[in-house]
Amino acid sequence: MDKFIIEGGGRLAGEVEISGSKNAALPIMAAMILTSGKNKIRGVPQVRDVTTMLYLLKDLGGCTEEFNDGCIVFDSAGINNYEAPYDLVSKMRASCLVLGPLLARLGKAKVSLPGGCAIGARPLDLHIRGLEEMGAKIRLEQGYIYGEVKRLLGIRYYFDTVSVTGTANLMMAATLADGETVLENVAKEPEVVFLANVLNQCGAKIKGHGTDLLTIRGVQSLKPINCDILPDRIETGTYMIASAITSGDVKIINCIPQQVEALTMKLRQAGLVVEENETSLRVVGDGQLNGVNIKTQPHPGFATDLQAQFMALMALAQGQSIIIETVFENRFMHAAELKRMGADVTIQGQTAVVNGVKELSGAPLMATDLRASASLVLAALAAKGKSVISRIYHIDRGYSCIEKKLCSLGAKIYREK
Ligand code: UD1
Repeated sequence: MDKFIIEGGGRLAGEVEISGSKNAALPIMAAMILTSGKNKIRGVPQVRDVTTMLYLLKDLGGCTEEFNDGCIVFDSAGINNYEAPYDLVSKMRASCLVLGPLLARLGKAKVSLPGGCAIGARPLDLHIRGLEEMGAKIRLEQGYIYGEVKRLLGIRYYFDTVSVTGTANLMMAATLADGETVLENVAKEPEVVFLANVLNQCGAKIKGHGTDLLTIRGVQSLKPINCDILPDRIETGTYMIASAITSGDVKIINCIPQQVEALTMKLRQAGLVVEENETSLRVVGDGQLNGVNIKTQPHPGFATDLQAQFMALMALAQGQSIIIETVFENRFMHAAELKRMGADVTIQGQTAVVNGVKELSGAPLMATDLRASASLVLAALAAKGKSVISRIYHIDRGYSCIEKKLCSLGAKIYREK
C-alpha cells in the first residue's frame, strides 16, 4: 500500500490548477445509463472513484471507447445488465447512483447495499422510498436491493433529510418516468444543479434546480450526453486551506469562487487575505491565524467535505474554534490523528472544540476516509518534521495528482510505493 512521506514546515507558493469535480462526474456517468448512444464527457478527474464507476458501467453492458486526458467516450447502447455487484459498490458508495437510472431504463435493478462507512451509517432509505412511491417493487435480500417496475410514475415526494445522491437518483429516474415528479427539500449542491442542466441539454424537462423544489416532466428518451465537468469545489477548498495553513501565497486557477463562498468568509474571519476573480482565487497568509467557528450544512452552508481540512487549520489558530458537524454523525475520525501531532481537540458528540497550539509535530499517521486523509496531508505540510501517512488509497479516490500539484507549490511530499 502506498504511503506519503511529508517534510513539513515549508510555505506553499505558486499556482495550482483545479481538476474536474469527482462528485459532479459520478452522477453524470450514472446518467449515461438513461441514454442509448455515444456519450462524451470532458474534464473528468483522474481519480479512483471515476475508474470504479467506469468498471461498473462496463459491467452493465456499456462500452468505453476512449478514456484518456480526462475525456470519456462511452457507448451506452448495449446496457442490458442490471446488477451492480458488491465488489464494486463496496469500493464506492456513489455506485448507488445507478439504481434510479437502471429502473428507469431497464425496469430492473439489483444493486448491492453499500453498508456503513467510516463517516456514518449513511442509509439509502430516502432513495428507496422515493423509487417505491414511483411504483417500483423493492425488496432487500442478502445484502442487495432488488427493484422491478414496468414504468416509473411521476410522484410528489418530500426528502426528510437533504440528500445529494438521493436527489440525483430520483431526479434521474424521474426524467424517463410517466408524468410529472415534484421533489421537495432537495439538495442545492452545484453538482446537482449541473446534473439537471446536463440532463436538460439531453432533452429532459427539469425545472427548479438550485431551489428546494424540483419539477421533472418525464420524457420518452434522452439524447447522449456531451459536456465538460465543472471544477471541483472541494479540491479548490482544500488548496485554499493548504495555502492558509502554510502561511502561503497560492493562486488557485480554473475554479468557481462563488461555490466556496462559505469557506472564503471563514478564512477571511480567521485573518487570511482571499482575493477572488472570475475563475481564480488567491489565498495569502502572513502567519496570523485566529480561531473561528464553523457549522457544516447542506449547500450553500459550510461543506462537510471541507470540515476535516478546516479543523487541521484551526489546530494552529490562536484561541478557540468550535466545529459543529450536522451532516454526518461520525465525521471526526481525523481528530484522533491530529491529536497525535499535538493538536488540542475535544470531541463532544457532533461538536469539536479546538484550542489552537503553536505548532504541530510530524508523526506516523493513518488515513481513514477521503477528506480526513486530506486534512492529515495539510496538517503534515504545516507540522515540524516528518510525517508518514499510510492508507493513502483513500486520498487517491478523490484527489487528482495531489502530490504532483503540492510539489509544484514547493511542498516536500513523496509517494512511497
Ligand atoms: C454526497 C457527496 C459527499 C458529501 C455528501 C454531503 C457525492 C458522490 N458524495 O454524499 O461527498 O459528503 O453528499 O454533502 O456526491 N441520508 C439518509 N438517508 C438517505 C440518504 C442520506 O438518512 O437515504 C443522510 C445521510 O446519512 C447523511 C445526510 O443524509 O447524514 C446527507 O447525506 P447525503 O447528502 O445523501 O450524502 P451522499 O449523497 O451520500
